[in-house]
Amino acid sequence: MTFDGPPSGVDPNVPSIARVYDYWLGGKDNFAADREMGERVKAVVPELPLMAYHNRLFLGRVVRFLAGEAGIGRFLDLGAGLPTMENVHEVAQKVRPDAEVVYVDNDAVALAHARALLATTGNTHVVDGDLYRPEPILAEADALIGLDRPVAVMMLAMLHFVPDEDAGRIVRTVLDAVPSGSYLVISHIGDSPQLRKAAEFYRASGTGVVLRSAERIARFLDGLELVAPGVVPLPEWRPDGSVPALDLMAGMAAFCGVGRKP
Ligand SMILES: C[S@@+](CC[C@H](N)C(=O)[O-])C[C@H]1O[C@@H](n2cnc3c(N)ncnc32)[C@H](O)[C@@H]1O
Repeated sequence: MTFDGPPSGVDPNVPSIARVYDYWLGGKDNFAADREMGERVKAVVPELPLMAYHNRLFLGRVVRFLAGEAGIGRFLDLGAGLPTMENVHEVAQKVRPDAEVVYVDNDAVALAHARALLATTGNTHVVDGDLYRPEPILAEADALIGLDRPVAVMMLAMLHFVPDEDAGRIVRTVLDAVPSGSYLVISHIGDSPQLRKAAEFYRASGTGVVLRSAERIARFLDGLELVAPGVVPLPEWRPDGSVPALDLMAGMAAFCGVGRKP
């Protein structure tokens, strides 16, 4: 698919979370304003593109674990982003071809690409939804894949854009809607003086960023059975040998964790 221009309603002059992230991952679905923002942020936190890359590697490992060892066949990917690197359905369906995935985002460009590239099988769905209003998203996901059986809820590189009061409410609402045996997967940037500077750039462009310590990130998994090794830096979650040497990650503050609903 070629990227001919912005879908209607998209202002290419305003950087978007999804497209800046796409730029860092080496994708082509971004505009000059996104690249400029990506470079400004990278100037203060040079590790950010590497963090984004490690986040996607974590996504691959955790989906393989969930579809395999954990026996999960349904995935709800909240804030799914652009399909720049291997996506949830590609990883899950390699392990079990019947895996069903619902991708949710509120970015028009991400949605347009998701529809074109992801919804290639009857088992993959795309929902336009704002996570600040999780109820309609959950109703649609229930109609599409059925939330009466265990599901993996993915919130990767997403919650750091949501302030505490809303983040807690959203996570609780989603967990209340899924049955026992479901999983919540999170990844989240940490806190450091450099990341605080980077967050300022985002705020100046209208996107709030909340930096949280590993302890605060772990609280999102309160009440769940924490899957080993717990809340750890991205490359340390069940490394499978494909991850580059850890010394490349020096100074990187980004954490992930997985919990199972009892
Ligand atoms: C940094 S990207 C992460 C993408 C993917 N989850 C990953 O980890 O690779 C964050 C995504 O969350 C989406 N997003 C941000 N706020 C959202 C909201 N309120 N509702 C739905 N999606 C949102 C953005 O559009 C973007 O695609």
